[in-house]
Amino acid sequence: AWLLLRTAQCLAGLGTARFPRLWCVTGGVRESRDEAQLAHASLWGLARVIAGEHAELWGGIVDLETADSAGPADADALLEILRSAPAEDVIAVRGGKAETARLVRTQREAAYAPVRCRPDGTYLITGGLGVLGLEVAHWLAEQGARRLVLAGRGALPPRADWHTVTDEDVLRRIEGVRSLESQGVTVRTVSLDIADAEAVARQLTPDALGLPAIRGIVHAAGVLDNRMAGDVDEASLRQVMRPKVDGAWALHGQFPPGSVDFLVFFSSCGQLLGLPGQASYGSANSFLDALAIHRNAASAAADTISFAWTSWRGQGMAVNEVVDLELRERGVSDISVSEAFGAWEFAARRGAGCYPVLRNVPVEQGTPRLPVLREIAVEEAADAPGSQQNGVSFAGLPPEQLRERAREEVAAQVAAEMKLPTASLDIRRSLVEQGLDSVMTIVVRRRLEKRFGLKLPATLLWHHPTVTAIADHVAELLTSSDD
Ligand SMILES: NC(=O)c1ccc[n+]([C@@H]2O[C@H](COP(=O)([O-])OP(=O)(O)OC[C@H]3O[C@@H](n4cnc5c(N)ncnc54)[C@H](OP(=O)(O)O)[C@@H]3O)[C@@H](O)[C@H]2O)c1
Repeated sequence: AWLLLRTAQCLAGLGTARFPRLWCVTGGVRESRDEAQLAHASLWGLARVIAGEHAELWGGIVDLETADSAGPADADALLEILRSAPAEDVIAVRGGKAETARLVRTQREAAYAPVRCRPDGTYLITGGLGVLGLEVAHWLAEQGARRLVLAGRGALPPRADWHTVTDEDVLRRIEGVRSLESQGVTVRTVSLDIADAEAVARQLTPDALGLPAIRGIVHAAGVLDNRMAGDVDEASLRQVMRPKVDGAWALHGQFPPGSVDFLVFFSSCGQLLGLPGQASYGSANSFLDALAIHRNAASAAADTISFAWTSWRGQGMAVNEVVDLELRERGVSDISVSEAFGAWEFAARRGAGCYPVLRNVPVEQGTPRLPVLREIAVEEAADAPGSQQNGVSFAGLPPEQLRERAREEVAAQVAAEMKLPTASLDIRRSLVEQGLDSVMTIVVRRRLEKRFGLKLPATLLWHHPTVTAIADHVAELLTSSDD
């Protein structure tokens, strides 16, 4: 993943008017039968995010069968794809035919039992003291779980000190444990880095836990470090991938397919939608989806579900204005906690596999639908971004006045996001140097799109680093859209 990301960064830095196209070939990720194929899986999530952020240089991903099964027809298909460069981010070539993924409503019948936990089993939740982890703990208790192991790196303070705790997050965790215990659930909190395979093997045995064998696992451990692709360094990429990729791999080793009733991965739909800022997170989550496929193919008792969740409204990592804006832009919104568990129940009854779970909402008129969402698209909303409903009218202004007005608007939006008086912004100095970070950049870009009724590139600030440069670019676009 780092190699692909670094290559994209180097190409983006060329500063040329016409970028070379970056293509990436993966082997057998769609089926993820063996470990070599699985090792390419992170590239899919990463690729979709790069495609969203750097459309100017991104070609696509082509997933071929492995060397022994791919034939000359596949090579022809690959060449044809490179030549015609279709607007698809991931293309699988099988039997000489190019195939692309589309989300569809599942047609599977409810052929399996609902989620029920055995009263004599133990259930493990990684990231179990996190926000969703505790929600899951309560839900599993409702499904009959009587023994829960909540694993995270941070330990709770000794019980004798709980009444002295003032830190809000620690209090939230303590309250979560108390509430479970009040329902008669035995809760064991375990301080464990889930990416450490040796620690997983040592700490999660029945003897080490002093509990019956683990019958079900929810892997919800994760960290965020959202940055635009150009700002991601190798350490940040590894940090975000570690709990998800190494963690899932350690669990897979300790609890091989068929050894538990269920293993559920908490992935995210961001990588399918190419959400900006999620290069590392997308890489991590696409591995989880592929590992679910790999495990289910490896055992007759398919036991693994990967949920590529949209945001759980107001919960944990979902509290993020940028993600909300970006989801909306793509015609997707969040779900409530009870909708999430409803989806879980629905999916479990339909069998193991990967389930993206998202709410489909109308996009503004004129906003193109992502190919992957086209088959589930709902009607477009009437208020187009260019309808000036939220915007300002610049019609008929002479060029210098147009640039001046655009400068005022851009400065006002940037200053509002940076919580500064507009007058204190230096409109000719780099905004990054003045403290605008990559997350603020996304918010500002989306607001400017609304204000001006224009589509602006994710790399806006890269190519136009000052208020003046952004305003001149906007004025140019407004002039050419009038022509
Ligand atoms: N919130 C959402 O709407 C949403 C949407 C899509 C997907 N997800 C996924 O759902 C999961 C839970 O998210 P959340 O919102 O509940 O976030 P959260 O509150 O930050 O919980 C994540 C937990 O993971 C634990 N963790 C991180 N690294 C770990 C490691 N190496 N070993 C063990 N535990 C580790 C953290 O605890 P320590 O720091 O103590 O280790 C933390 O409690 C994540 O995987 C996230 O990607 C969430």
